[in-house]
Amino acid sequence: MRTLIQNGTVVTHAGRVGADILIEGEVVVAMAAPGSHDWTADKVIDAAGKYVFPGGVDVHTHMELPFGGTYASDDFETGTRAAAWGGTTTIVDFAVQTIGEPMMDGYEAWRAKADGRCAIDYGMHMIVSDVNDQSLKEMDILMGDGVTSFKLFMAYPGVLYSNDGQIFRAMQKASENGGTIMMHAENGIVIDVLREQAIAKGQTDPIYHSTTRPPITEAEATHRAIAYAELAGCPLYVVHMSAKEAVAEVAAARDRGSNVFGETCPQYLYLGWNNLKEPGFDGAKYVCSTPVRNWEEEHQEWLWKYLATNDLQVISTDHCPFCMNDHPTLGTQKRLGEGDFTKIPNGLPGVEERMRLIYDGAVSDGRMSLERFVEVCATTPAKMFGMYPKKGTIAIGSDADIVIWNPEVTSMMSVDVNHMNVDYSCYEGKEVQGKIELVMSRGNVLIENDTYLGKPGDGRFIERDTNQYLI
Ligand code: URP
Ligand code: ZN
Ligand code: ZN
Repeated sequence: MRTLIQNGTVVTHAGRVGADILIEGEVVVAMAAPGSHDWTADKVIDAAGKYVFPGGVDVHTHMELPFGGTYASDDFETGTRAAAWGGTTTIVDFAVQTIGEPMMDGYEAWRAKADGRCAIDYGMHMIVSDVNDQSLKEMDILMGDGVTSFKLFMAYPGVLYSNDGQIFRAMQKASENGGTIMMHAENGIVIDVLREQAIAKGQTDPIYHSTTRPPITEAEATHRAIAYAELAGCPLYVVHMSAKEAVAEVAAARDRGSNVFGETCPQYLYLGWNNLKEPGFDGAKYVCSTPVRNWEEEHQEWLWKYLATNDLQVISTDHCPFCMNDHPTLGTQKRLGEGDFTKIPNGLPGVEERMRLIYDGAVSDGRMSLERFVEVCATTPAKMFGMYPKKGTIAIGSDADIVIWNPEVTSMMSVDVNHMNVDYSCYEGKEVQGKIELVMSRGNVLIENDTYLGKPGDGRFIERDTNQYLI
């Protein structure tokens, strides 16, 4: 099968150019000035007036994550289909080790959930919940299987939390085997004290989820994680950053020349305390950790600035949806925390909305160039997690993961038009500039004419290389 995409403006992190793209099977085989060739193809797609972007790469999703007595409501089938609708053609999800169990069991369980069900290509990070001698050996085995990044938690004591010694041991192992440590950097011990005290005072509403996780708890943990990573000599990628004080720690480490990186997510750029304070129990929709923060403290403006200066390198989603009212089997998940915010499952939906939200806020609102938009949403995540240049760019030899984007029209964010398996959108009614007209994954058209043409199992597991973004 040969496909020709012609007359579009091809945008990569490196620049933009009017070009025709020839795809043979799954990969890009040629690019040339529009009309300067005599290529024939089985399918010809006219992209005149459109942008041709590499497919989005979302390196932080949680399909079916068990959390707080329930499960994230998107599974690998529904979640990756929704990702495709939103112009994302690669995800990296998180396999979870159960405390007391071998890490490989967790990994195999997650592969069993994902294999044969995904609409788009997918990789796995490994959540190390129980750092011990066996887990450290298993980190080596996983490296050989293309699982080259390991997430640790300084939050959620008693569940996913690792203490400082465990964190440091895992970092030493990563330094030895070339892995990247991903860190959920919040001081969970202090946060637990603040949560208990808030509940004792009758502060039970969703807003207290954020007031009990103040910026200093993120900044202190980030500082500590960086110190240990610098001592161990491993790359550190701090996930879902929301506090400007925490990102300042990443910026300082980068200024010292350390391999320290930061990720933020759309919710931290767009949402805040006004959302958590929505009437009734609606604030629960926005409960995630790290929390969305007080708008008046200007975290959002600083996150945008840090993205522009490359102190933050990646925008992912941390997609982890739970229903408010209405899931056929999982029920009213967020309402588990009605009357006690500590019981609200942490996480919110976003895998389908990221590309359009960021294009709108970054490119349309003049905060980023088109190239930087591609870089933070596709190219850098692909490099950071060892998938470049197959993923994250459009070049000869790359996988033909391509999004055709109409910049002239607007589209709507709404649960009514979304495809994620969740009963609300955090951005309900928001109109954004740009519409996704076609999505292709390894040459296979998944979305065209507002129709999904893919099927479960189209997506393939990616055995990832080590970090390609190191200084
Ligand atoms: O609130 C969040 N972020 N839920 C998902 C789990 C995690 O910490 O990433
Ligand atoms: Zn986390
Ligand atoms: Zn997460």
